[in-house]
Amino acid sequence: MNRFTLGIALTSAVLLGGTALTHAANLVLYCAADEAWCQQIKTTFEAETGITVDMTRKSSGETYAQVRAEASNPKGDVWWGGTGDPHLQAAEEGLTEEYVSPMRGELHPWAISQAEAAGNRTIGVYSGALGFGYNKELLAKNNMPEPKCWADLIKPEYKGQVQMANPNSSGTAYTMLATIVQLMGEDAGFDYMKALHKNINQYTKSGSAPIKAAGLGETTIGIVFMHDAVAQTAAGFPVVTVAPCEGTGYEIGSMSLIKGARNPEEAKKFYDWALTAAMQSRAQEVKSFQLPSNKSATGSPLSPDLSTIKLIEYDFKKYGSSDERKRLLQKWDTEVSTLPQ
Ligand code: F6P
Repeated sequence: MNRFTLGIALTSAVLLGGTALTHAANLVLYCAADEAWCQQIKTTFEAETGITVDMTRKSSGETYAQVRAEASNPKGDVWWGGTGDPHLQAAEEGLTEEYVSPMRGELHPWAISQAEAAGNRTIGVYSGALGFGYNKELLAKNNMPEPKCWADLIKPEYKGQVQMANPNSSGTAYTMLATIVQLMGEDAGFDYMKALHKNINQYTKSGSAPIKAAGLGETTIGIVFMHDAVAQTAAGFPVVTVAPCEGTGYEIGSMSLIKGARNPEEAKKFYDWALTAAMQSRAQEVKSFQLPSNKSATGSPLSPDLSTIKLIEYDFKKYGSSDERKRLLQKWDTEVSTLPQ
């Protein structure tokens, strides 16, 4: 290679490097809902804005842990979705930014209360009730009665038949733990979790995994958000969704801007876009049946109707507080997960 061709080669390499840089992701999205929904959000936002999105899907508790671990050198820009409790905890710990979106007026009051409870460091993007689902073919094959209540799930006939996620990684499972404590009181609630532990065949990392496993016949019952059970039925699996007879908790799926984000302008653009009716109306195309937070978004007729479900007054302030979430998780780790089955 003579000097001239070497010069051209070097110039091209610099130009290519430059091109590679301009093509680098310019929004880093931590997504904590279902993978298919996260993918839809990434591709639609990219197509509509030309902003490239580097998206990672993790469970709610895992995303919180990542944002916290990266706090001194943040790598993510927006944390979208997942249960609200860890978003509230992150807000309290100053890991997320205050922002009042111009879209706020279009939202349901429950989405705005979530923002107000967190000094505007988070906001509600969807909601959904907790419950469980079961595989009706497996249930019939094993001559098991239909579970209707939380109390049924600890009966000996369901030994090894129930699956739920680990509340440390999963917002679904943390919502379940906090719901049981609120429904039964802390002592009786922990006795219940210990009794349930005997019937659990696996604690998964992700909250919706247990009902996907039930759909495939790998477990009979999965404790999940009801919309995740409905999604399995809609996908053709023999899954029945149950709203527990004693009443149940619910989530306000949330979104937060990560403090010290490298791409704050793109992050705000995404945030405003994620609150639009058009964006939220598309969730049902990927079988995400949560209730949208934008009042004009079109929900799916398959979404569980919260007005027909006995909901507890879930205390988001308390169970989303840093001290309480840490305390309950630690207590579950030491008093429940270590017990023999
Ligand atoms: O997308 C399904 C979903 O159940 C959401 O409604 C919820 O916010 C999220 O997953 C919780 O996932 P995980 O339990 O894995 O944190």
